[in-house]
Parts: sequence; structure tokens; C-alpha cells
Amino acid sequence: MTVTVAKPDLYPPSVKPAARALPLTLSILRFVRNPLRSIPRAVYDQPIVTYGKKRPLIAWVTGSALLENILIKNAELFPKTPLDKRVLRPVVGEGLLTAEGDHWRWQRKLASPLFRPGDVLGYVPTMVEAANEQVARWRARGSTHIAAIDEDMTDTTFAVIARTILAGIDETEGAEIQRTGRAYIRPIMWSVASALMLLPESLWHPGRRNMLKAAREGRDVVQRLLNKRRAHGVRGDDLVARMLATRHPETGDAMTDEQLIDNLATFLLAGHETTAKALTWTLYLLARSPEWQERVRAEVMAVTGGRPLQADDIAKLEITQRVLKESMRLYPPVPAMTRVNREATDIGDVHFPAPALIVIPIYIVHRHRALWDDPDKFDPDRFLPEREAKHTRMQFMPFGVGPRVCIGAAFAMIEATVVLATFLQSASFAWDGRHEPEPISRVTLHPAGGMPLGVTIS
Ligand code: HEM
Repeated sequence: MTVTVAKPDLYPPSVKPAARALPLTLSILRFVRNPLRSIPRAVYDQPIVTYGKKRPLIAWVTGSALLENILIKNAELFPKTPLDKRVLRPVVGEGLLTAEGDHWRWQRKLASPLFRPGDVLGYVPTMVEAANEQVARWRARGSTHIAAIDEDMTDTTFAVIARTILAGIDETEGAEIQRTGRAYIRPIMWSVASALMLLPESLWHPGRRNMLKAAREGRDVVQRLLNKRRAHGVRGDDLVARMLATRHPETGDAMTDEQLIDNLATFLLAGHETTAKALTWTLYLLARSPEWQERVRAEVMAVTGGRPLQADDIAKLEITQRVLKESMRLYPPVPAMTRVNREATDIGDVHFPAPALIVIPIYIVHRHRALWDDPDKFDPDRFLPEREAKHTRMQFMPFGVGPRVCIGAAFAMIEATVVLATFLQSASFAWDGRHEPEPISRVTLHPAGGMPLGVTIS
């Protein structure tokens, strides 16, 4: 007689929220450690929660109708916040991520053709190559070993962006951009906290000097990259070529060097760190759930027979994409977005004088008690077509929603699918039975203590 033992459900690490909104100083201390910890528990249950005794200063918004109003119906009344800009400007200036109005529209129109799903599929061979190079690096370190998965995923996704959207970066430049990016992010929550407290931008905070130095050094590398492309004549149809050739529709002006660097820095950062985090958390979940790891591998082998992935395999990798979506639900690589109200306005029943800070905590929307059944459980079948059809438009938004939706969403989904599937053709991932990393917001969602996983290469 065979006895089947039901596998226990997987509840992977989550953030322990504050029981209630804390006084400002305590809240800031928690915020610097992990902004998600400073958000009160009530935000997981209610559509809107406010902070501020005399007048509401901050609103955490998760309700679908409220979000639809802010992000879609009246998006022009709720622009991105000066806070975002202040924190990111030293690196990405007024590039696509931070620009507003006409300057944003022009840049968005310029970059959009590079991101059409049909065109992105043309990058699949490059994505396969980058994933196989990672497998080769793992193999060179020994057939079974403990890998720093978060760092490995950053290397892999950086290789993809550097060879596709931003062709022409060499290894030394790549390493320098990654180093300066990491140095900038490390103390970033001090900078966010300082902006939240409306302290002057020039005021000292821990790590400020290193951040500004890293930003300057990173932008210098991008400037050198630009000079190199100009010196060799601009060929190809990557972002650099398109941006060098473009003229402003009204003024006829070319982009200034500063505008070019703003956008190259934007795409270099936004285009790899996010997808790296999606892959890092997905491999963690698969290491914690060997059954799902086996199901995904079986699907990949059935579709590809072990040969390199091709563009038309992607739509057939349904289980793989279901797992990626569930991973981005539990661990959205961008855990929060912020907006500000241009004018005094009502959000739900609350009146907000302008400006108030509107926080859209994607991480909490994805774990909201009113939106999801057993929200902290890992269950990729939530994204079976018949169940996904019942989701509301605003309950799953890893790429944001509305006019400022991620321009790289299709690129990222295709890349994550190709890289994950390629890994599973020859690698397996194991959990040590102990590591339960808290998800920490550092603009993107980092695992506290990194992501050591056992890797075995067949
Ligand atoms: C899993 C991977 C990714 C996730 C989760 C993600 C998430 C997001 C989110 C949530 C936003 C909206 C921010 C807001 O409205 O405040 C955004 C915007 C943006 N993303 Fe992504 N992203 C990913 C990959 C990429 C890639 C691969 C690229 C480029 C190659 C990219 C480039 C951008 C840019 C330029 C914007 C600003 C768009 C605009 O404001 O018009 N992202 N992303």
C-alpha cells in the first residue's frame, strides 16, 4: 500500500507590518531599515489608510476603484512626486522614468518602437546566450555549490540589456556601471527619508557623499560610452542610435548630451535590476517548492526537448509564466509607486489638501486581504486562465498601470521566461532549509542577507 503524504503549503517570507502608524521619528527609523515595515497593518485590509493628525499628509491606497482613478482616469491630476525625482535625479536626471509633460511624452514616443513585443522576440537568442553563460559560470565553480543568486541574476540581466537595448557596452564599463549603481542604492533610504521630512536637499545624511560620488562616476561611464559610439559612427537601431538620430518634433533640436545620458542611465538601471529581482525571488520559490520546480522543468523539456529556446516556445511555456507571475505577486520587484495630488481632492471619503503623498504599495495590493484568498500562500494556480480572468484590473500590477506603465513589461516577461527556462534545462536549485530572507524595499525588492541557494549543474 502506498501512502501519499500531502505536501505542506508554502508560506514564504513576508514583511511584519507595524501594528499601527508610528510617531514620525520611530516611523522614519523603521522606514530606513525597511519602508515596508513602516506601513501599518490596516493597509492590508482597507482600501485607503491615511497618516497625519491635523491634516492627512500620506495616503496608502490599495482599493481598486481609487487606484483606477489615480492611475488611469485622472492620471494627469496625479503626477509622479518631487520625492522620486529628488532621490533618483542625480543618476537618471530627467530621463523617461522621472520626466513629466511634453518632455516625458517625447521620450516615451521615441523609445516605444524598441519595446514592441514582436521586436523584443528578436532578442531571444541574446537572452539564451546570457543565460547559458551564467550556467557555464556555475559549472566552472563546481557541479554542486552555493551560489549568490541575487548577484548572479544581476550579472545575467545586465548582460542582456547591454547587448540589446544598449548595445556596445564592454565588460569593464559594465562592471563599473553595476558597481556605481550598487553604491548609489545602498544608503538610498536615508535620502528618501530626508525627502519625506522635507529637509533641504543639500543637507547631510548618512551615505550622501558616497551616493553623489557614485552617481557622478556612473554618469561619466555613460558619457564615455556615448563618445565611443559617436567616434565609431552610429550604426544599428538600438536606443543609443535612435536617440542620437532623433529631433524634437517642435524645435527640431537634437537631444543634448545631458538628455542622452539621463535616458541611457535610466534604461541601464531600470532595465536590469528589476528583472534580476524577479528571477532571484522566483528561483528562491522554486528552491522552496521542489514540486513546482519539477513541473516547470518538465514543461520546458516537453516544449524544447532540451534544445536552445526559440521565440515561438514562449507562448507555450504556460506553467513557467504562471510561476513567474505568482513570484511577482508575492515579491513585486518594484514594491511601491508614489504620486502626488496636483490640486486639493477627495480620495474615497478623505479630503486631501495639495500636495499629499500618495503611496501605492504594490507589495500590499498583491497581498491585500480583500483582494486575494490566502494571500501569503505561494500558489501559481491563481494565474490559471479561468482564475486569472476573475482578477480585477487593479489587483495585480507588478509593472504599474496607466500611461506611466512600465515600457519594458513585455521585454521583462520574455526575458524572465527565457532565462528561467534555459537555467532549468541544466541546473537545479536547492534551499538550505534555513534562509528566510525578509523582503526589503531599496527602490527594488531585495532579499535581506542576499540569496544563497544550492546550484547543481547536470
Ligand atoms: C520584472 C521587471 C520589471 C518590473 C517589475 C518593472 C516595473 C516597473 C514599474 C512598476 C514602473 C512604473 C513606475 C511608476 O509608474 O511609478 C516601471 C516603469 C518603467 N520601467 Fe520597468 N519594470 C521592469 C522591467 C523593465 C525593463 C526590462 C525596462 C527597460 C528595458 C524597464 C524600463 C522602465 C522605464 C523606462 C519606466 C518608466 C516609464 C514611463 O514613465 O514612461 N523596466 N517599471
